[in-house]
Amino acid sequence: MNLTTSSTAPVTLTDTGLEVLLPGGCSAYFNNYWLRDNCPTSFDSQTRERVFDIFHLDTAPRPRRAEVVDGALEIAWEGENHTSRYPLDWLASYAEGKRRQDPSDLPRRAWYADHYPNVARFPQADLMADKAKVAEWLKALIVEGVALVTDMPDSDEGLTELVKLMGHVRPTFFGEYFDVMTHIEPTNLAYTAKALELHTDTPAEDMAPGVQFLHCRANSVEGGQNLFLDGVAVANDFRELYPEDFKLLAETEVPFYCEHDTYDVRSRQRVIELDAHGEVSGVTISQHMADVFDLPQDVLDRYYPAFCRFGRMLQSDKYLMRFRINAGECIVFDNHRIVHGREAYSATSGARYLRGTYADRGEMRSTYRALTSEGRFK
Ligand SMILES: [Fe+2]
Repeated sequence: MNLTTSSTAPVTLTDTGLEVLLPGGCSAYFNNYWLRDNCPTSFDSQTRERVFDIFHLDTAPRPRRAEVVDGALEIAWEGENHTSRYPLDWLASYAEGKRRQDPSDLPRRAWYADHYPNVARFPQADLMADKAKVAEWLKALIVEGVALVTDMPDSDEGLTELVKLMGHVRPTFFGEYFDVMTHIEPTNLAYTAKALELHTDTPAEDMAPGVQFLHCRANSVEGGQNLFLDGVAVANDFRELYPEDFKLLAETEVPFYCEHDTYDVRSRQRVIELDAHGEVSGVTISQHMADVFDLPQDVLDRYYPAFCRFGRMLQSDKYLMRFRINAGECIVFDNHRIVHGREAYSATSGARYLRGTYADRGEMRSTYRALTSEGRFK
């Protein structure tokens, strides 16, 4: 749909649609199918779903009469006993063919090594009691990608209750929850006391989980310092410094895997993820789940140097936030944005137990929108 100033008539019919003079003096073109499909009566007020079926029209929709009445476009349709009424302000919001405004589409704020004192913090009981606090928590996760929930109950249920404020538990091939502690027969480095290199979780899955929760139930060991960094901060700097390398990492899919006796999970991911605006929205990085790169060797001539430059930048002190997670805290973070790891610890020096789970990014944004915006039907 194009905004024009060619017509001063309130409504002008064309072969396929009509031009309407909008508030502000510009006229805009709207297609007849689009208008008929989106008549306000197309949506059921109870279920809020579209109940009109455009596929069942025998002929292309055509206005029999169209006029502007009291700030709304009124169309009586040919061959139907039906009149549609569209507020001009509503039409104006679609006139330029732009995406519908999304309250969760907030600009990201990159953060660096010194971020720990400024990490958004919310006592769990406050979140449970106050929806406005939940909205603040979700906003912090959308904008900064990380938040700490404090004063968590020392129970499995405490974590489940927290996830439910955002959405549902999102299972992975590890199940609904996972326990990070030293295991006797580990299938994953996280289940040992060794250092855990910087990574995002389970990139071998088609849809790696969007939001990660790590609830610390005990931490009295020596060592085991947490390492977190903002992949958006690193990738934005990388884009400035090495634009060609950035392009390669943002456009090339590389394989990831997770394989053991009973599973063989595989997917392909881009190391740098861009959003609909072309802005960096995340990164996917995991040395222990990166499969053998099965790309043409001459592509690897260019890919590997770029990949290594990015990997080295990720480890730079400029970005690495070091801290120690305490019992009773739950760190919640965007698993497609925040790269995390851990220093080695002494397994015999005390207890270390983190219970983890995931939720979806999409569900997080859905809850944020529902808490903060009018929506179409309220
Ligand atoms: Fe992890």
